[in-house]
Amino acid sequence: MNATISQPFHKILFVCLGNICRSPAAEGIFKSLAESGKEGEQKARNRSFVVDSAGTSAHHRGELPDSRMRAAASQRGFVLNSHSRPFESERDFVNFDLIIAMDRSNQETLLAWAPHPSAAAKVRLMCDWCTAEKPPRSEVPDPYYGGADGFEQVLDLLEDACGGLLRELRRS
Ligand code: 4NP
Repeated sequence: MNATISQPFHKILFVCLGNICRSPAAEGIFKSLAESGKEGEQKARNRSFVVDSAGTSAHHRGELPDSRMRAAASQRGFVLNSHSRPFESERDFVNFDLIIAMDRSNQETLLAWAPHPSAAAKVRLMCDWCTAEKPPRSEVPDPYYGGADGFEQVLDLLEDACGGLLRELRRS
């Protein structure tokens, strides 16, 4: 079954591997954009969103986001203060309408865990909403073992994709 945004989605879960770099940044950026009212038309049309993030690995459970990601996000005015938690299939496929993986590897893990086709249909890729990159990126790359540039690239992609996602959800 294809996932299409033909109905309003309110509950969004961003997912990466460790839940300390990409998905907490996506969570913080999306919340900030949704609250700022910059990306929509009128505040009267704003929806309330439930936004969370999780990792397909439990390795960093309980940790704040990576200090490099927190610092880079803070420079752009985004506060990242979530705590890492592992994705929980039984709960998260029920509680969220849209489950957004940062890369194909995590998307494939989520699809393998989906208990039925309607759960799998909730799984999408973050870069489905990217607009700015030329040529378009299909994944948000893992910055963990790289340098500072990688974190900036991730934030560029996430600001673009979160803006695109928010505009699409507000139109639906
Ligand atoms: P994330 O980045 O999936 O964006 O949170 C990573 C964090 C930790 C590791 C890999 C990626 N790690 O191998 O520990």
